[in-house]
Amino acid sequence: MTSAALSHSIATPQIMAANFLNLLIVDDERSIRDACREVALSLGFMAHVADSAEHAYRILQTQSIDAVLLDLRLPGAGGLEALHHIKAQRPEALVIVVTGYGTVQSAVQAMKNGAYEYVTKPFSIDELKLLLERVSNHLKLKSENRMLREKLKSKQGYGGIVGRAPEMEKLYRIIAKAANSSHPVLILGESGTGKEMVARSIHYSGPFHDKPFIPVDCGSLVPTLIESELFGYVKGAFTGANQAKDGLLAIAEGGTVFLDEVGELPVDLQAKLLRAIQEKEIRPVGSTRRIPINVRILAATNRLLEQAVTEGTFRRDLYFRLNVLSLRIPPLRERREDIPLLIAHFMERSLRSSAQEKILTDEAVKVMLAYDWPGNVRELENCLERTCAFTSGPLIHVPDLPPAIAGTQVAAPSNGNGHGHALNKIVPMAELERQTILNAIAELNGDKLQAARLLGIGKTTLYRKLKDYAAQS
Ligand SMILES: Nc1ncnc2c1ncn2[C@@H]1O[C@H](COP(=O)(O)OP(=O)(O)OP(=O)(O)O)[C@@H](O)[C@H]1O
Ligand SMILES: [Mg+2]
Repeated sequence: MTSAALSHSIATPQIMAANFLNLLIVDDERSIRDACREVALSLGFMAHVADSAEHAYRILQTQSIDAVLLDLRLPGAGGLEALHHIKAQRPEALVIVVTGYGTVQSAVQAMKNGAYEYVTKPFSIDELKLLLERVSNHLKLKSENRMLREKLKSKQGYGGIVGRAPEMEKLYRIIAKAANSSHPVLILGESGTGKEMVARSIHYSGPFHDKPFIPVDCGSLVPTLIESELFGYVKGAFTGANQAKDGLLAIAEGGTVFLDEVGELPVDLQAKLLRAIQEKEIRPVGSTRRIPINVRILAATNRLLEQAVTEGTFRRDLYFRLNVLSLRIPPLRERREDIPLLIAHFMERSLRSSAQEKILTDEAVKVMLAYDWPGNVRELENCLERTCAFTSGPLIHVPDLPPAIAGTQVAAPSNGNGHGHALNKIVPMAELERQTILNAIAELNGDKLQAARLLGIGKTTLYRKLKDYAAQS
């Protein structure tokens, strides 16, 4: 590649005014530096150039560099040493190393030492563009996640949702989006996964957080009571209605009504709720007058509402109204990596209400990691609360846990023939493929076409596989 060839093929550089990423190009060959700089600028990067490792270190001291394109064949210090310095100076920077043809060995070494990617010289503009686009997507995702984490942290007490599994990070992004819109959101998840917590988090991270958040449990109230609770009633509307009462949809004015277990709503009430949402007004029981309402609806269910729609027990039109945005909270057994975080969170909380610090033994944690948690986070929370209350010493052993959990079979350690442990670690190919595909899509911010291209599979194949995964889950 030559810089002359490049300048013909690249459109006028367009630097994005805000939020640009800083790329440092380190190469002793001027033509390469210039060429890479042009590509970087065309993609909206702010480009800095250095002709030696020492020059690069000076730039790193004064500029907030997000990514580095580093030639491994630098005179003097040498590329691997430069990589070490750069990672020490700015650990979060993504470093792409550039190697000459036939020196892939050093690139492999560089990857082991923390490089993000490598590219071999000579490379084409398209190759470089693709690589820098990936870097840019990765960095944007990282900064989005960071911002979201900060935001959720500052919202502790409202949200306080614990979990770092990729599915949870995805959930936080949807929560942030949902919080800033006023559309209904349907929250799906098994019992105890945190549906109400997510609903609160959507409300309290949004612009109307100072207005009421009112949960209504459609599953535990008798139908007539739900109607009078939601819509209110006038004096004398029914026996015992000695005075008028405002409905929750009116009381929540400007805020949110959270309809928990919405799938349990009787069909005639579904029609009334649909009308209330569509026409933005309600008619209290026993009244002929309509009252305008201004309220956001969040709904949750642990039932398969689509199935209920097909069976005719849930109105299709209401389902579409509630399902403008939907999010699914994964069950705990699908994100076991969050179990230690949740244990730490609940143990810390129990410490605040007890005099003695309690610690779970390694074996107890292992058992908890292996257990399936059909009651999800709620079950984990209850388990720790009960266990802490009933264990007298500072250590919590396996037998101190509730029997259903204590009896969990933990994958056996090596049994002496050398295979036991290794066999437990073997993951089926199909699962590896699934993880690779889902990770690639997450990494690329949901860009499936790009993911298919980088994974080297056709987009039809990718879509087919995603459909299969959805059907399996
Ligand atoms: N990710 C989480 N981080 C911290 N606590 C959580 C999390 N998820 C759930 N919890 C806790 O677990 C309990 C159950 O959560 P929540 O009531 O929101 O679940 P749910 O899905 O509405 O359950 P149900 O279907 O039983 O009504 C609550 O005490 C909540 O504080
Ligand atoms: Mg609930």
